[in-house]
Amino acid sequence: MKSLFLRAALLLVFVVKSLFSFAEEGMLIPSLIAAFESDMKAKGMKLSAADIYSVNSTSIKDAILQFGGGCTAELVSNQGLLLTNHHCGYSQIQSHSSLEHDYLKNGFWAKTKADELTNPGLTAMRIVRIDDVTKDVLMGANSKSDQAVIAANIKKLCAAAVVGTHYEAEIKAFNYGNDYYLMLKEVFLDVRFVGTPPNSIGKFGGDTDNWVWPRHTGDFSVFRIYAGKDNKPAAYSPDNVPYTPLHYLPISFQNRQEGDFTMVYGFPGQTEQHVVSSYLKFIIEKERPARIHMRDLSLAVIDEGMKKSDLTRIQYSAKQASIANAWKKWIGQIEGLKNLQAIQLKQAEEKAYKEMALSQPEWKKYVEVVNQLNALVEKDQSIEFKYALGAEYFSYGPEYFKMVRAMEDLVTNYAKYVEKGELAKVLEKMKANAEGFFKNYNSEVDQAIFIDQTKAYLDYTEQWNEITKDVKYSVANEWFLNYVKGMATEIYTNSIFTNQERYLAFLSSFTEKSMKKLNKDLGYTHFYQYFQPFRNETVPAYRSFQTSITNLMQAYVEGKYVMFPDAKHWPDANSTLRITYGQLEGSAPTDGMRYTEHTTLDGLIAKYNTGNPDFDLLPRMLELHAAKNYGPYAQGDELWVCFTGSNHTTGGNSGSPVLDKNGYLMGLNFDRSWESTMSDYLFDPNRCRNIVVDIRYVLWVMDIYSDAKHLVDEMTLMKE
Ligand code: ARG
Ligand code: GLU
Repeated sequence: MKSLFLRAALLLVFVVKSLFSFAEEGMLIPSLIAAFESDMKAKGMKLSAADIYSVNSTSIKDAILQFGGGCTAELVSNQGLLLTNHHCGYSQIQSHSSLEHDYLKNGFWAKTKADELTNPGLTAMRIVRIDDVTKDVLMGANSKSDQAVIAANIKKLCAAAVVGTHYEAEIKAFNYGNDYYLMLKEVFLDVRFVGTPPNSIGKFGGDTDNWVWPRHTGDFSVFRIYAGKDNKPAAYSPDNVPYTPLHYLPISFQNRQEGDFTMVYGFPGQTEQHVVSSYLKFIIEKERPARIHMRDLSLAVIDEGMKKSDLTRIQYSAKQASIANAWKKWIGQIEGLKNLQAIQLKQAEEKAYKEMALSQPEWKKYVEVVNQLNALVEKDQSIEFKYALGAEYFSYGPEYFKMVRAMEDLVTNYAKYVEKGELAKVLEKMKANAEGFFKNYNSEVDQAIFIDQTKAYLDYTEQWNEITKDVKYSVANEWFLNYVKGMATEIYTNSIFTNQERYLAFLSSFTEKSMKKLNKDLGYTHFYQYFQPFRNETVPAYRSFQTSITNLMQAYVEGKYVMFPDAKHWPDANSTLRITYGQLEGSAPTDGMRYTEHTTLDGLIAKYNTGNPDFDLLPRMLELHAAKNYGPYAQGDELWVCFTGSNHTTGGNSGSPVLDKNGYLMGLNFDRSWESTMSDYLFDPNRCRNIVVDIRYVLWVMDIYSDAKHLVDEMTLMKE
């Protein structure tokens, strides 16, 4: 048995790992980094584990923040100066932009601290400490899935952890509930916008180059954390002062070369390394293609609208970027997983796992786990499919749905608000929200999205109503198309949810009777006709499917740790702070193709003027390039723009610092290459590369391009 397993395992190792690459799979928990210290040092690192993470003294950890709940950012000066990606600050940049102040087009730089702009709701979170609390969480539990006891323990432990502090505590499950860690957090509430390059730098290459190497995007924006006079987090106040950090990152201002040690420190969102073969098949063959198609439909409409009008371009730029980003990643993922024969690899891994499980009586249970997982996916994948399509339609589809949902609270609690005398206040708040919504809304664009997506959604999910049930329609069916178009005309000419005046007028004269009107509004009734079954049937069914999967995965992953103690194990990303290391490195992703490890300003200029607006530049860039005005930021006669590294990253790592062997900032992580987008499921050291904007280009853009040298002067440049 063992030898069979060994053969299968060796095969796997051979296929997946290359002997020549330094790339390391895994997103490591900082508090456990000591276990990797010697390997990291062997690869060139000069730091100790305690320099990276420590609870007894300050460490690099203290300069890393989770930015706005999604991305990562890092402190680079003793005055709270914070760097993150341009695309991470994008909604803030957009919210400060207008036709008069087009910061998207022209960039923005606060000349003094007084010019820095506030961002209500934006936070930056520092991890104070990370503790393994698995034993305490499972105390008194019958099993690892005894949810009632676990939830009660978590609540108690979190409450105890914050006593006498201004911190927040969160306990998260790792490895599907095999482990639990407590994160103590310090959340800063006053994060101001300091500057951004124009889109022609920060988003250079746009969606054409997104997820692609070679890359020339200056994907950064600049913020500053403000704190109360006691240096503790405080809500926005003009009296707040720049935060004095425990640690900030010195800038790696040295020549670089392929092979240099690199380390990425940030908040990766989600990976799914353990999914079983049948699930991967479902993702590759069914779920992703349908979601991609739903987004094809809306992107076609939005792109067209943005091309036609500057106002629409500004209104839809952030929405378009967010829809297009996952869309393109999914396309790359499917391609990569197919190329790598990922389903077969998973099957081979499952076979090896089962064979190992048969080798010891107490491991027999693990054989069943694999079979049950695959059987469950076969049986219930249609639930996940419906759920995914609903997520597309209701969250990324016609936007007026958001306004319908915003009405729900009022409809449910109307009597209570009247009784408490709060109605006027609630209505005012709804009106203010509506202004925000309609500022970025174009009814024609939304109507066209409605038509295409409604047709596709009903088709995919096979939902008929009284009128359509007798028609054996398909997406191409003329009758059905006209039926949806007819609905759209009514909704977009008469519904109160598709027009600002109608909506505000409706709220202005809101009484008990208004609620009856809602039931005659086709925009309202259409939404609920399909949203109710989604919410009441699909979502609960999906949750219970997920719970069953998680319980089985818990045992499956436990089996990996128990039966293969010498393999490198790491818990899937879950938006907690992680470290990954590798080196500055190019790649040869397919036969006959080799990517070099860095790009330059010359290469950026070469992409210009190809007729594609994604590569537009402002004249200043051309002038500075022609004059070779690179200041002190060049390496030889080149200005490096981006480089790639062999670090295992995922969404959420955007804005993460890429650190050199001394812990100095080399650049900001912002993407992965096309060939590596499948690393959320399967990491291949031969091709998986993260894409980084070089900090020297960032500083050049600030200092020379934008005349914001005062920001560079705040930083500490390390020439050796
Ligand atoms: N692909 C990167 C990430 O996942 C960058 C996205 C922003 N850029 C864009 N063109 N949409 O976030
Ligand atoms: N751009 C991604 C983000 O926003 C990072 C790229 C990736 O998914 O690796 O986090």
